[in-house]
Amino acid sequence: DRLETFIRGIPKAELHVHIEGTLEPELMFSLARRNGIALPWMGVEELRKAYDFHNLQSFLDIYYQGADVLQHVQDFYDLTWAYFERAARDNVRHVELFFDPQTHTRRDVPFETVITGIHGAQVDAEKRLGITSKLILCFLRHLSEESALEALHAAVPFRPWLGGVGLDSSESGNPPSKFKAVFDEAREAQFPVVAHAGEEGPPAYIREALDVLGAQRIDHGVRCLEDDALVERLAREQVPLTVCPLSNVKLRVFPHLAQHNLKQLMGRGLLVTINSDDPAYFGGYIGDNYTACARELGLSQDDVVALAKNSFTASFLGEDDKRRHL
Ligand code: ADE
Ligand code: ZN
Repeated sequence: DRLETFIRGIPKAELHVHIEGTLEPELMFSLARRNGIALPWMGVEELRKAYDFHNLQSFLDIYYQGADVLQHVQDFYDLTWAYFERAARDNVRHVELFFDPQTHTRRDVPFETVITGIHGAQVDAEKRLGITSKLILCFLRHLSEESALEALHAAVPFRPWLGGVGLDSSESGNPPSKFKAVFDEAREAQFPVVAHAGEEGPPAYIREALDVLGAQRIDHGVRCLEDDALVERLAREQVPLTVCPLSNVKLRVFPHLAQHNLKQLMGRGLLVTINSDDPAYFGGYIGDNYTACARELGLSQDDVVALAKNSFTASFLGEDDKRRHL
């Protein structure tokens, strides 16, 4: 319909997408064949059936298994390029892309292989699609801080290719404070900082992400509404939240999209953005997330405009670039 066409066409930034989460089943199987890797699923259909998640961990188990097919520079390039081509169809003009190097280095795929493939596709996306992007290195919070420090040190030679650091993976039981030292070092090296917090974890994890890690943006953050003082602070400081509605439903943070708190968050004056998280696993890219919210939550055209503007405001683009998009 008309609002859907408007949604597809409006220029937008995507600030919360994991490159490993854009691995479509078809590409997973074709890379498995190319690299001679056996997958535990018979085919695309059986794999899609396995995408029946009941929480964050049940998704992560499959997501890390799927990433095994990524072996060579060309694999990371193909994955990233496919994402950019798909994003172009939703008129995404700027992307801040997450990657999880520890997922790959722990299976002996060198950091350099991973980042070289991703970076190559970023360069081509800017040249051929006009999409700018920044790459954000995420530490896996279920692993040790020592392992995170190793990832940060592996990244140092590639500093010019990196636009920030983040924190993802299993939230419950892995508070931001576990990673104080590595984020201290990252901020010392002038990395912008983001962190997943308040997806499954409590509001206290959002506070820690801000106060202990120095996060400038909170990924998800939807549980902030349980803490009024925190909401007031997030609103006052205009800390962006990168909300991922279809992800939240798939991982059962909310039972149904109609119960999602996106509009309450907006109503409290928060700087909210809509993003896809792991679109190949959660049944929709960024345009699908906007469209599903418009349908289930009754977003108006003005809401859509506000959300799309927020996506540039909340980005790590410089002020001139922001103005160009706004
Ligand atoms: N890694 C990929 N997607 C994630 C999510 N939604 N939460 C935490 N870690 C993730
Ligand atoms: Zn995420």
